[in-house]
Amino acid sequence: MQAGPKQLFSEELRGRFGEANRVLVLTGAGVSAESGVPTFRGGGNAAVWKGIPFEVISSAGMLERDLPAVWEWFNYRRGLLEALKPNPAHEAIARWQDRFSDFTLVTQNIDGLHQAAAAREVIELHGSIWRARCVHCAAHHNLRELRIDNGVPACFDCGSSMRPDVVLFGEMLPAGAFERAAAKAAVCELCFVVGTSAVVYPAAAIPEIARAAGAYVVEVNPERTPLSELCNEVLTGSAGEILPLLG
Ligand code: APR
Repeated sequence: MQAGPKQLFSEELRGRFGEANRVLVLTGAGVSAESGVPTFRGGGNAAVWKGIPFEVISSAGMLERDLPAVWEWFNYRRGLLEALKPNPAHEAIARWQDRFSDFTLVTQNIDGLHQAAAAREVIELHGSIWRARCVHCAAHHNLRELRIDNGVPACFDCGSSMRPDVVLFGEMLPAGAFERAAAKAAVCELCFVVGTSAVVYPAAAIPEIARAAGAYVVEVNPERTPLSELCNEVLTGSAGEILPLLG
């Protein structure tokens, strides 16, 4: 028998959900799993490209060595994403931005599915697969308007090579993104951690900051993570099934 909201959520959580103003949500690949996006580690099949582990093909070193191969890998991922739609977890989170007076959505995902569910002002810690950035003048270009089949696209502004505007392993996060998320985590009352294995830093530090500042931290994941111990409440299951039940 499927656990109903009454069993799934504590009175404490329901009370806080009903009263909170400052709410932060951190999401990872798991929030997009029910849309068909493969996760990197838990649950779904680990991503490997032509025998190259994703940590390698998605690394700064690979960008130096073989930019066309990096584009091929992200073109493949973008091709996978094109047909995918947001799921009820994305939709619930998008609704929350109008429910709470001070709502912050932070994602590690580059898939753009939160925005496709009408989420606004998403803090994208790891960039977006739908943007390219010039390696010379740092101009950003929207890839939805571009068809890139092979090779390396050139910057419209200065003609130099462009790279995917995604944070690769070994690279820094976009300027200010983590700082903005951390500042909101330090003042939030309620923090949801949805669909992340919580092993990649600095993203995984955000719920730790919230907890240390006294927020009520809730994890939503079918599997336990290194963060579970630290949470006030763990909701075991799929985000697409659990989040809509909250409201
Ligand atoms: N609902 C909620 N959680 C889910 C679901 C689901 N339907 N399906 C899987 N999960 C959980 C898994 O149990 C796992 O803990 O989502 C988590 C996905 O973990 P990862 O694949 O490690 O993804 P993430 O935590 O987002 O990875 C962080 O690592 O690879 C880099 O840059 C990449 O942003 C990524 C970062």
